[in-house]
Amino acid sequence: MADPTDTLPEVAFVPPASLADFAAPARAVLPAGVWDFVEGGSGTETTLAANRAALDRVAVLPRVLTGVDIPDTAADLPGGRYAQPVAVAPMAYQKLLHPDGEVALAAAARTAGVPYVASTVASAPLEEVAAAGGDVWFQLYWLRDRDLVADLVDRAHTAGCTALMVTVDVPVLGRRLRDVRNGFTLPPQVTAANLAGGRDDLAHRGAPGTSAVAAHTGAVFQPAMSWADLAWLRERTRLPLVVKGVLDPRDAVRAAETGADAVVVSNHGGRQLDGAPASATVLPDVVTAVGPRCTVLFDGGVRGGTDVLRALALGASGVLVGRPLLWALAAGGRAGAEAALGLLAAELRDALTLAGCADPGAARHLRTLIGG
Ligand SMILES: Cc1cc2nc3c(=O)[nH]c(=O)nc-3n(C[C@H](O)[C@H](O)[C@H](O)COP(=O)(O)O)c2cc1C
Repeated sequence: MADPTDTLPEVAFVPPASLADFAAPARAVLPAGVWDFVEGGSGTETTLAANRAALDRVAVLPRVLTGVDIPDTAADLPGGRYAQPVAVAPMAYQKLLHPDGEVALAAAARTAGVPYVASTVASAPLEEVAAAGGDVWFQLYWLRDRDLVADLVDRAHTAGCTALMVTVDVPVLGRRLRDVRNGFTLPPQVTAANLAGGRDDLAHRGAPGTSAVAAHTGAVFQPAMSWADLAWLRERTRLPLVVKGVLDPRDAVRAAETGADAVVVSNHGGRQLDGAPASATVLPDVVTAVGPRCTVLFDGGVRGGTDVLRALALGASGVLVGRPLLWALAAGGRAGAEAALGLLAAELRDALTLAGCADPGAARHLRTLIGG
């Protein structure tokens, strides 16, 4: 009898054509609660939706006859010069997505020549991530235990991190209703590896109708961070200091005056204050307000090279990319993340070429029309 598999057509692996194409395979392999934790925003997810809608409304006027053949995508960001004006956004607990978690995504970022930002609440210790990555920046959450904050900053220095990013938009976790409804809890094998000594117990202790991650955050994070604390941090580190989670131009100016080398215009991917504006909407005002005082980075809804071009044209020096890289990690581990970052580089090169720009710096001189 003939082997029935003989007659089966061979299914060729089709490489994703866009970053969005990584979402379906990721969703297929992830538990529903993890998918919701990654995808979800806070409240009615109005701000989450606004991030994408605002980017779609940004029309960029291409220049012609500029004589550009192959643009150079390299760009200067606070931690150095990188292959693209792109960094991997800090994202918690990446072992939820793939057993190799942070180490795989950091290694992919190294291959792509872009910085990887390691979260305070990573599921691998920052030393392991720094060893796997190329340029690794450490993302700091302000914790109730000041000694622990100081210790994390020292560890980031010792591990060779090239920038320190402090996230200032999480005094408490936004009300992420998907996680509340799912009673979302970290599985036992996923821990807050930088916070040794049982500091993540609460994240593992679920109760129906509550988010264990929110309970853990509430216990560990210090809500009352102030400008004086930012000044303390500036004193404490010689690394480039990046302040993430700024929307009001006045706060951006004050961050620069307090010694920040960069701010990230961000609403945390729509996961914190629901009803906050889309980050693309406020980006131009922040850029104008800070002027040359510090670098302005952007995140929220970046899903391809065209979005990077839009952010540059609105005045950003670079972008952070979040969820699509988690999809790629879930779908294909390190190789998946490398494919996604490679695709983004190719898309950015095409977008720059089509807009007549020799490099990301030229893109910052493009004009935009909102809603055009
Ligand atoms: C699953 C997940 C975990 C996150 N964890 C952190 C974190 O630990 N620290 C932080 O500063 N931001 C965190 N963020 C926010 C991202 O750094 C970034 O601001 C946001 O995802 C950008 O939007 P995008 O996902 O639309 O690209 C997280 C986002 C997601 C989706």
